Amino acid sequence: MSEIKFYKHEQIPMEMHKVKIVQQLTLLPAHERLAKMRDAYFNTFQLHNGDIFLDMLTDSGVNAMSDKMQAAMLEADDAYAGSETFYRMRDKLEEIFGIKYLLPAHQGRACENILATRFVKEDNCVIMNYHFTTAKAHITRLGGRVEELVKDEGLVSKSDLPFKGDMDLDKLKKCIKEEGKDNIPFIRIESGTNLIGGQPVSYENMKEVCKIAKKNNILTVLDASLLQDNLYFIKTREEKMKDKSIREITRMIADLFDIIYFSARKFGFARGGGILVRDEELFHSMEDLVPMFEGFLTYGGMSVKEMEAMRVGFDESMDMNVISQGPQFIKYCVDELDKYGVPVITPGGGLGAHLDASVICSHIPQEEYPAGALVCALYLCGGIRGMERGTLSEERNADGSERFASMELVRLAFPRRVFTLSQTEYVIDRVKWLYDHRDMIGGLKFVHEPKTLRFFTGRLEPTSNWPEKLVEAYEKEFGKDQ
Ligand SMILES: Cc1ncc(COP(=O)(O)O)c(C=O)c1O
Repeated sequence: MSEIKFYKHEQIPMEMHKVKIVQQLTLLPAHERLAKMRDAYFNTFQLHNGDIFLDMLTDSGVNAMSDKMQAAMLEADDAYAGSETFYRMRDKLEEIFGIKYLLPAHQGRACENILATRFVKEDNCVIMNYHFTTAKAHITRLGGRVEELVKDEGLVSKSDLPFKGDMDLDKLKKCIKEEGKDNIPFIRIESGTNLIGGQPVSYENMKEVCKIAKKNNILTVLDASLLQDNLYFIKTREEKMKDKSIREITRMIADLFDIIYFSARKFGFARGGGILVRDEELFHSMEDLVPMFEGFLTYGGMSVKEMEAMRVGFDESMDMNVISQGPQFIKYCVDELDKYGVPVITPGGGLGAHLDASVICSHIPQEEYPAGALVCALYLCGGIRGMERGTLSEERNADGSERFASMELVRLAFPRRVFTLSQTEYVIDRVKWLYDHRDMIGGLKFVHEPKTLRFFTGRLEPTSNWPEKLVEAYEKEFGKDQ
């Protein structure tokens, strides 16, 4: 089933689960949030979770587990080498993806480290529909480059295109010709895309990309970290696929690729990662990197309890009632904001609702990080923590100049099965208020800027006293206790 239909009520998304364990939340007053924001140097990664009302930073490792996942944890088999838990998990992945060889890793970026270390050499060019921060950092660390060949429409914020994560096939052919196939260690498809609004990739596009890659003898890699959302969109938006089951679609996708890796902090709703390798020789060529960086080959840095939980989580990712929750809540949030006139990425994708800071904060120059400023403002005005996905999340060019991001987004992630509809309504309400007061938001500048992945640990300060003024206006509207 993809949606519960209502009789008299307007159509709203419905939770297909009930709450069995809860975590109490606190909502600090706005002036206290301002003090916390200062302590965090205007970087939402530096906030303490206890000071946050709704944490929409990410879905990574914070999806709710099911009762069955928790129960499975009790059956975990503790062993450094040869844990039965590992074999059960490997068998489950083989059942779903049809790929036999599995290298375990502690999370998605660890898989990216292994893949980059094995395949990327100085001056190599890795082709992608779009990059993810850590995927790119591991490639550039080794002197490689990334070419992003997403279709131009993928970077247009307002659209009704169903698959904005698709790769442009003409650009792909041109790039292979210009680079030369021997300089391209692999083509990576991210499904769905993290940094451009959780937008999905169609099965048809994956098929065509892999066909071109095979013709040129180039390895194909699927980043399946956000696959569960992408599966929902393929089933609901791709005409030719609507009668296929989620398991059939997954298998059809898997059959296209040489390597599939995933963050199980997302895909599988637990905490871990893994690389599935079709070819035995290729698998053995990466095997030694696992004990070196991750842990022995039957745990790869993961706890056995988490591996048991993700085994069940993989199965749950094949259930339409489970995977529809995220996209339906995101669509509701996006549509409500869009109706009000708030610039958001449309159509709603997976992972989260994405605010277009380049329009909302068009008065803030890109070098003062409009999305970084907006994400701080949203914490001040509501206690909601989002994530900057714009220029702040980029790294500088070699000459020290800013590399301006193609999109300036604030992501409000919907970890799966975590937030209720009334919490979603609160988020919509506070974003509307902030949008109506957007002119009060000012810029940010670095006071400490790390060279790599600066968005995690960088320290910033506002370019004026705009946060104080904004909090004053907020308290006037909502009172001093909110
Ligand atoms: C598409 C994608 N790939 C890779 C990763 C990295 O995974 P992890 O956070 O487990 O290292 C992420 C994490 O957000 C992601 O969204």
